[in-house]
Amino acid sequence: MCGIVGCVGEGAAVDRLLRGLRRLEYRGYDSAGVAVLSDDDIEVRRSVGKLRNLETSLLKEDLVGGVGIGHTRWATHGRPTEENAHPHFGRERNLVLVHNGIIENYLELKEKLVAEGHEFHSETDSEVLAHLIEGCVKDDLRDGVREALKQVRGAFAILVLDRRFPDRIVGARKDSPLVVGLGEDACYMASDIPALLEFTRQVLFVHDGEILELSKNGVSITDFDGKPVKRESERIEWDLLMAEKGGYKHFMLKEIHEQPRAISDALLGRLDPSPEEGLLPELTIAPEVSQNISRVCILACGTSYHAGLIGKAWIENMAKLPVEVAIASEFRHQEPLVGEDTLCIAISQSGETLDTVAACRVATKRGAPLFSVCNVMGSSLTRDSSGVLYTRAGPEIGVASTKAFTTQLLCLYLLAIRLGVDRGHLNPKEGMDRLDRLRHLRSTMEVALREEDNIKAISQSFYQAPNFLYLGRGLNYPIALEGALKLKEISYIHAEGYPAGEMKHGPIALIDENVPVVVIAPTGGPYDKVLGNLAEAKARGGKVIAICTEGDKRVKESADVVIPVPEIEHELTPFVTVLPLQLLAYYIALRRGCDIDQPRNLAKSVTVE
Ligand code: AGP
Repeated sequence: MCGIVGCVGEGAAVDRLLRGLRRLEYRGYDSAGVAVLSDDDIEVRRSVGKLRNLETSLLKEDLVGGVGIGHTRWATHGRPTEENAHPHFGRERNLVLVHNGIIENYLELKEKLVAEGHEFHSETDSEVLAHLIEGCVKDDLRDGVREALKQVRGAFAILVLDRRFPDRIVGARKDSPLVVGLGEDACYMASDIPALLEFTRQVLFVHDGEILELSKNGVSITDFDGKPVKRESERIEWDLLMAEKGGYKHFMLKEIHEQPRAISDALLGRLDPSPEEGLLPELTIAPEVSQNISRVCILACGTSYHAGLIGKAWIENMAKLPVEVAIASEFRHQEPLVGEDTLCIAISQSGETLDTVAACRVATKRGAPLFSVCNVMGSSLTRDSSGVLYTRAGPEIGVASTKAFTTQLLCLYLLAIRLGVDRGHLNPKEGMDRLDRLRHLRSTMEVALREEDNIKAISQSFYQAPNFLYLGRGLNYPIALEGALKLKEISYIHAEGYPAGEMKHGPIALIDENVPVVVIAPTGGPYDKVLGNLAEAKARGGKVIAICTEGDKRVKESADVVIPVPEIEHELTPFVTVLPLQLLAYYIALRRGCDIDQPRNLAKSVTVE
């Protein structure tokens, strides 16, 4: 996600903004910009790429003034270009804004503003917000922001600087982080604590639904109705590294806990399709294309491949289309049977995985239309694709993929609904019912993560095992593969994921009292069969760790250890069953003293063959 910083005080704001933004660099970004109030005028500088490009342009002509706002952008609406970089001006250029988040109804708002004669210079939702706010500002900047936000749906943390109110900046927050820093000769607002630590340790956390006015003497807070809010500041004792990780020991743990949030970000604006645009208009697959294709081919590697296997089950079930899921590194060196009638869907967190990008080029060369599910806007894969469904997970820094996986699943589920409706195998009501099921996903995942202490304790008994077996069936067989991959990657323990029913055809020979067997057994679907497999493993002396539905007595009686997950429709169980497996791998690796965020021999983005 983007990083934002603002400051009001004595001395050069630009220097403070750049220092703050530099502390947010670790999160990843593709462009940056600052705005400073200089002699009642707002000066803006923006550039694509790294902060040093912005610094170079500032060297030529320094900005003076103690009030400013800055931004590092992780593209979501519109490509990573200078025009799309923040800050954005309003129509009259009286104010500038930086924004983190997604404005759900920006197209609707933009249409209205265009009808009133507004011209826009970027493809962003944020510029629309800048124009909207400027139009609402009369005698007081904060009142104007409050008025404008009444019309806005979505998630945001914003900072607004207006030349008519030169001694302050106004910030607001809804579903996107914002924190205030109280320094000696300046006050700050930022999306994350690391941006503030060089200047102050005295901070004040902003809550959802609050609007702030920051001056060099401090901050005043009100809610969205204008009611004053009282809040004491607190002292942060974290060091910089801890702050970057949000107080967690590792990025992986932080990202595991970010999943419920990432899921709700990925759902923003996608749950209530408009009658004109339908579901997922960004995919640009015309209904005729969906109707005329005869098969789907999913291309991906690693964790993204596992997401693809679950996507296959959903698409086959809802759209009645045969789906092949190909490991990209294999596919690209074969003579694949794809053509114009094959819808190719690439899945990649980075969008730069060489095998996936190359496999897609093989497919498109044969005439297959290519769509992708990707986390990084402007990446090679998205440039090659006719349509992209962005996962909106935000930057994933830990090498072991976690939040990218669950948001990929979400996109694939939405895609399956869309294809099902387009092809007439789901009627619109069934499509809507399935979308409705997703509304509770965030809270259900939050409940699943509450098992963390239990999982931490369980890891104590198993962290020295040399081998693990993971078993699952149906939708939870790919989860077994993913659980095993997580453990291998970060703890260096050999682990194998297997379809539970296939165990008796070979791997059962491996089981003895030294082999922990992780069985994924939520209720519904092939539950009874999985229970049979669990008993087989137990009968061979295996130590069974079962992932089961909360309150399941049958599993509790048969397994050595259980990790409950909350009840959810069977179709959606992968969203919750994967969470304990991520945590189990994490805590086992932690006890083994492994380098969790950067495991040996691995790279976050594999751009070689
Ligand atoms: C996941 O934990 C891995 N680090 C790895 O398997 C990864 O999923 C794979 O390299 C594909 O990456 P991508 O999603 O960026 O294409």
